Amino acid sequence: MELKQAIESRTSVRVYKKDPVPLEDLKEMIRLASLAPSVANSQPWTFVIVTNKPLLEDMARKVVRQLENIPENESRAAKNIKSQVEWFATFFQDAPALIAVAMERYESVLEKGVAMDHDEVNRIRNYPDFQSAGACIQNMLLAAVDMGYGACWLSAPMMAKDTLEKMLGLEEKFKLTAFVAVGKPENIPVKMPPRDVKEFIRIIQ
Ligand SMILES: Cc1cc2nc3c(=O)[nH]c(=O)nc-3n(C[C@H](O)[C@H](O)[C@H](O)COP(=O)(O)O)c2cc1C
Repeated sequence: MELKQAIESRTSVRVYKKDPVPLEDLKEMIRLASLAPSVANSQPWTFVIVTNKPLLEDMARKVVRQLENIPENESRAAKNIKSQVEWFATFFQDAPALIAVAMERYESVLEKGVAMDHDEVNRIRNYPDFQSAGACIQNMLLAAVDMGYGACWLSAPMMAKDTLEKMLGLEEKFKLTAFVAVGKPENIPVKMPPRDVKEFIRIIQ
C-alpha cells in the first residue's frame, strides 16, 4: 500500500472480528513503530503484547473501577458522560490483541547542566518523551492499516495507569503511555470528513 493511501484510509477501528492476530504481525507492527524518530534517538519505548482475554477483561475492570472513583460534577449529563467514556476506555477487552506502549523517562543533556529538576526541564522542552511516543504510535497505526488490520489508539484507560503497569509487569523505569488495540475490522467505520486544510494553515513568508 502506498503511504498516502495508508494515511488517507486510516481510521480508528474499535470493533473487531474474533480472529486472532498472529504474533508475527504484531511484532512487525512494533518493529515499524520503533523506527519512528525519538528525541536524541533515545528510542525510549517498550511494548507489551497482550492477547490473554481474562487479563484484558481484568484490566478493563480496573479502568471501570478507577472511572467510578472519579467524582462527578453537578451537570445533569455527568452520569451519561461517564458511561460513554467507559466504553471508549474499555472496548480493548474485546480486541484480539492489545499493544501497551510504555516509555522510559528521557533525561535531556540540559538537565545535567541546569538547576531544574527533570519535570521542569521536560516541561520547558515541551515533553519530548510524549512527542516521541506519538510518532511511534502513529507509525504503529499506519503499519496496522498497511497489513490489513484495524487499530485504535487509546489514552482513556491510562486513568488506571498505576494498576495497569503492575498487571503488565512493567519494570519500574517504564511508564505506561497508551494502548493500541488491534484486530481485523468487523466493519470499516465511516471516516469523519476532515477539516479543510485552509482552516489551519497560516503562511509567514
Ligand atoms: C492521543 C489519543 C488518544 C486517544 N484515546 C482514545 C481512547 O481512549 N479511546 C478511543 O476510543 N479513541 C481514542 N483515540 C482515537 C480518537 O478518538 C480518534 O483518532 C479521533 O476521533 C479521530 O478519528 P479517526 O482516528 O478515525 O480519524 C485517541 C486518539 C489519540 C490521538
